[in-house]
Amino acid sequence: MPEKIVETTPYEDQRPGTSGLRKKVSVFRKKNYLENFVQSIFDSINAPRGSVLVLGGDGRFYNIEAIRIILGMAAANGFDRAIVGKGGILSTPAASHLIRKRGAYGGIILSASHNPGGEHGDFGIKYNSENGGPAPEKLTEAIYEKSRSISRYRIVEEVEVDLENIGESKIGEMTVEVIDPVSGYADLMESLFDFASIRHLLKGDFRIRFDAMHAVTGPYAVEILEKRLGAKQGSVMNSIPLPDFGGGHPDPNLTYAEDLVKIMYGEKAPDFGAASDGDGDRNMILGGRFFVTPSDSLAVLAANAKLVPGYQDGLLGVARSMPTSGAVDRVASALGIPFYETPTGWKFFGNLMDAGRVTLCGEESFGTGSNHVREKDGLWAVLFWLNLIAAKRMSVEEIMHEHWKTFGRNFYSRHDYEDLPLESARKVMEAVESRFRDLPGTVFGKYTVLHCDDFSYKDPVDGSLSRGQGLRIVFTDGSRIVHRLSGTGTSGATLRVYLECFESNASRHKLDAQDALSELIAIAKGISGIEEKTGRKEPTVIT
Ligand code: G1P
Ligand code: ZN
Repeated sequence: MPEKIVETTPYEDQRPGTSGLRKKVSVFRKKNYLENFVQSIFDSINAPRGSVLVLGGDGRFYNIEAIRIILGMAAANGFDRAIVGKGGILSTPAASHLIRKRGAYGGIILSASHNPGGEHGDFGIKYNSENGGPAPEKLTEAIYEKSRSISRYRIVEEVEVDLENIGESKIGEMTVEVIDPVSGYADLMESLFDFASIRHLLKGDFRIRFDAMHAVTGPYAVEILEKRLGAKQGSVMNSIPLPDFGGGHPDPNLTYAEDLVKIMYGEKAPDFGAASDGDGDRNMILGGRFFVTPSDSLAVLAANAKLVPGYQDGLLGVARSMPTSGAVDRVASALGIPFYETPTGWKFFGNLMDAGRVTLCGEESFGTGSNHVREKDGLWAVLFWLNLIAAKRMSVEEIMHEHWKTFGRNFYSRHDYEDLPLESARKVMEAVESRFRDLPGTVFGKYTVLHCDDFSYKDPVDGSLSRGQGLRIVFTDGSRIVHRLSGTGTSGATLRVYLECFESNASRHKLDAQDALSELIAIAKGISGIEEKTGRKEPTVIT
């Protein structure tokens, strides 16, 4: 297994998006495509000789092949040790934890998150820094720059290491340490939550269902929910990770987690349902015939955090991404703790956490997390809810209604227009922005526009500025319409329209969100002219 320097030519399309580089599997299998990008990472991070690298992925198609290539490259690039999850498996939050716990220089996570897998699906790769969080923009830009001029990479070819058994082996000078991907993470969860009281809850007639969607959380959920917490066997469904996720779309929302949704909205629905995504960082929370929006979920966790052992001393502060509803803002102001509004994407939370400014954070896109790692964490959110249910002895729905009664309800919905031609998506954005001068003061029925802007964020920790983060139309009563283009898609453009209005009157809290938001939905369509510009009458996905 000699170390080689291989000549290569650059690809032009290796700019990482919101969460790493995502492309079709067929693109990643192009000659030197993966190698170029990995060498660009190594050339940008300048890890000193003797560094430790964490490596694993969500088990999707091409995971193991990619891991072997990256191991060979890590060895040739002077890493002292690579810590790899058995079978090449590591959920994103578990990888984040491992980087921190083992003092690694960083980690490479192979995942395209919730995007479909399989030979014709998507693949992805992202680099996380030593704090366990996604690489900051400065670094991802540097990686992209390197990828545009790369001319050679270093590799030990045809690596033969046993990734199926726990233990150590060598590639040249580098040690490959294959670890159990689950146990360290499960221990971390046990240190944060009251497992005894959750166990007690699950021993009674409280029934749960967790849908791992044939993605990475299966082994984690079986160990934690069934083995350690005693949920009935079979409570975890679709628990075996498959390279194509069983043909599904591992995105935990009402559209794609359809097996679970059927059960939770059926007769004899269990008391609690949850799902996670491809790499285990997202979560969806359901009660019997009841859906908790991620924005509300964050607010509930913040309001009740002191009931959970890991957060019993209270929260340093909370953060949400700009498009996420303002429900958590109200909790922060009631608790008198700092609150931050960041651009979309998890990396902005990491700085705030490292600086000790926030404990909890979340996004409307089914991402919730805390400073226990530097990624969002699907199972963590599930355990947080179970801990609250056990402590409050209330159902999911009761907890939510109690919350709305106290804080009011932020009705919220996201309308996605997927796979649009780039040109028409841009036209919609331009149309919205072109109205920003004349909209303020305009009255639409009961709504009056207060101000409009393209959201930008100055990081309070490192002072970096992020512009162009979404077009906001804010109304005098705090209602909002936000237009934003997705940064994670792999084909065409996805336009996201986020809608929000506030309701303090408890008698209206039971309204359906789409009904409560119907006027705003019409106003948004009128301003953007989306129907004429895209030919789409309705969004592809409504959450
Ligand atoms: C989406 C979500 C965003 C999340 C990201 C990574 O990004 O909207 O909140 O951080 O996936 O999971 P988008 O496609 O909107 O750029
Ligand atoms: Zn994910």
